[in-house]
Amino acid sequence: MKIPLASSGLRPIDIQAADRVLNSGFLTMGKNVKEFENEMAEYLGCKHFVMVNSGSSANLAILEALLRPSSGIPYLLPGDKVLVPAIAWPTTIWPVLQLGLVPEFVDIDEETLAIDLKQADEKLAKDRSIKAIFIIHPMGRAIDHKLLENLVTKYKIQVINDVCESLGSFIDGKHAGTSGIASSFSFYFSHHLTTMEGGGIATDNGQFADDLRSIRSHGWSRDRTDASEWHKNLQGNDAKFLFVTTGYNIRPMEIQAAIGRSQLKDLDFFVEKRRSIAERVKNSIDNTCLSIIGSDTFSTFEKSKSHSWMLLPIRITTATGHLIKPSVLDFLESIGIETRPVLTGNFLSQPSMQRIGKNLPHPDSFPIATYISNSSFLVGAHHDLSDEQVNFLGESLNEVSRIVAQ
Ligand SMILES: Cc1ncc(COP(=O)(O)O)c(C=O)c1O
Repeated sequence: MKIPLASSGLRPIDIQAADRVLNSGFLTMGKNVKEFENEMAEYLGCKHFVMVNSGSSANLAILEALLRPSSGIPYLLPGDKVLVPAIAWPTTIWPVLQLGLVPEFVDIDEETLAIDLKQADEKLAKDRSIKAIFIIHPMGRAIDHKLLENLVTKYKIQVINDVCESLGSFIDGKHAGTSGIASSFSFYFSHHLTTMEGGGIATDNGQFADDLRSIRSHGWSRDRTDASEWHKNLQGNDAKFLFVTTGYNIRPMEIQAAIGRSQLKDLDFFVEKRRSIAERVKNSIDNTCLSIIGSDTFSTFEKSKSHSWMLLPIRITTATGHLIKPSVLDFLESIGIETRPVLTGNFLSQPSMQRIGKNLPHPDSFPIATYISNSSFLVGAHHDLSDEQVNFLGESLNEVSRIVAQ
């Protein structure tokens, strides 16, 4: 039996929605994108949602908007330091570097897999050139917004949320990442909600949302809610070609939004299914030398503290976990269970970082990131897994734990 890490997630009903768009002749960003944005804002409980072509583009656009708003004082300046986690997705880190900001790495927290907020606080207390924290809500886990808001109050920094792995996760009734200036989401295939490729940004700030609308579309004013204000003073320019910010072309297509709208109707069901998969696998490996990182969230079933389980992070808890991990992975792969590292592992040890980061700390300066990279791995938790597949996954992990214990 196969337990894939990723499944397409597309159902016949989603393909029909895409088909209708293709047959309509309206293909580039239009009314489906607008509707999807409204529906996402409602789902997340935020004022604005701006769709783009990927989660990576969402991260890029957020930083661009912070550095070069259409009016007013920039939120960040080139050279400002941004706290980032030592286990991260590359396109959380790359736009920081690409746009002239300075990533300041912080170790992760062993239990949440997110940036260690205590260490972040200590760094902020010592170094006033840190102006923002880019927090990843990892693997479906919502990081407590109150802890993030404390950092804003204490140090007047910007909180930027990368929620690309955690759509559908809540804490205290608030969706992950809906505090801070903006949050990025990914709808890449096999995520909680897929548009094949796709992403978007949630924000409560109207001008910020308008700047994102310009940034995703070459920098022009056309799609802004305040376009008519800009068009009052054209200074000889054509209103259709008025460029008010820097920009990219990172627009989504109608077909993506139509699929997204179809999927969003069932998102709660998808997330619930993932929770039940995580719980069943947890029950299969309780009291063994394997544990699911994030299991503490099972202690309550309230929506106020709920995990949406992008994938299942499994830790080998024996002292020799790092030594036996390769044979555990070999065994699982040999019986059809796909595995992968926890995101990129310790990101500082990636060749690209070692080449760029002459002044960056050594990967060993982040012992928890190294420990998690060496002792832990991910397996699939996609909502398309059948009951048989979930049973097989749980039983196989249990079996491997018994072999390891011998
Ligand atoms: C934390 C994080 N940020 C950003 C991304 C990028 O999203 P995308 O693949 O849609 O570009 C991912 C990918 O899943 C991710 O895990």
